[in-house]
Amino acid sequence: MSYSDILVIAMGLTAVMILGVSILMLKVIKFYVKESVHPTPFPSPEEKARQEIALEQALALKRLKPSIWSKIMGLKPISEEKDLVMEHEFDGIAELNNPTPAWFMVLFYGTIFFALVYMFNYEVLGWGQNQEQEYDTEIEQAALAKEAFLLKPGNAKNAVNENNIEQSKDEAVIKNGAALFQNRCTPCHGEHGQGIVGPNLTDAYWLHGGTVKDIFKTIKYGVPEKGMIAWEKSLSAQQIADLTNYILSLQGSNPAGAKAPQGEKQP
Ligand code: HEC
Repeated sequence: MSYSDILVIAMGLTAVMILGVSILMLKVIKFYVKESVHPTPFPSPEEKARQEIALEQALALKRLKPSIWSKIMGLKPISEEKDLVMEHEFDGIAELNNPTPAWFMVLFYGTIFFALVYMFNYEVLGWGQNQEQEYDTEIEQAALAKEAFLLKPGNAKNAVNENNIEQSKDEAVIKNGAALFQNRCTPCHGEHGQGIVGPNLTDAYWLHGGTVKDIFKTIKYGVPEKGMIAWEKSLSAQQIADLTNYILSLQGSNPAGAKAPQGEKQP
């Protein structure tokens, strides 16, 4: 807001104030002139008493009128109770003719109607999806979206993925993979991939498949329930690909202290 804007607003407010004061002044002058020409006589004591009674009656009437709240809710004020008592009476207990307000009955029958529609929609006719079906649909959609995402060309971060990886025997790639293998994988798979807690990676036996794609997938998503970490969180797709190629390069290296084969033999 600029300085001139503030000035315009301030002047506008001042004008409104001056207008208000002028109107007030005019009213005062008018009243003064009227009282000087025809002065109002002071009320006599009887007149005063009459005015007081009229005021009290008006107040009492107001008290009898139901409040806005009672009107909206369709409630009867307690003062009307004597008009609602019905003829019969038992042991001094009387019944009031005070039916439940219509809005409440609409709500009540509304919930029953809603329950019927709900039951037919989800359980009988099966038009709507219940939570389990909704969950399945969402998982299906997510799987499709993931596939589409992985297949997207030019997606730099996912340039390599389990669908398009090819084995590479490039020395630089394998050296890179070997460097990544140190410290990260050696605690469980051994210095030379011979296997410690994790399986031997140098033989032809695989728990989760021995193709490039299989190995890439195992490293990427891990086997969390068996203690193999999902490395996609800490390594890039390219790094996982390099590791995969390094592991494939170890095939048949037969290191000392190799762990017994696990899984199925794959060519
Ligand atoms: C905390 C220990 C641990 C670490 C660290 C670890 N792994 Fe594993 N890895 C395992 C275990 C345990 C398995 C076997 C899972 C099973 O039994 O299904 C395994 C399985 C594998 C397999 C599949 C073997 C097969 O027979 O199918 C590959 C490939 C693999 N790991 C690669 C790696 C690579 C690469 C790294 C480093 C980036 C790594 N692992 C780090 C514990 C580990």
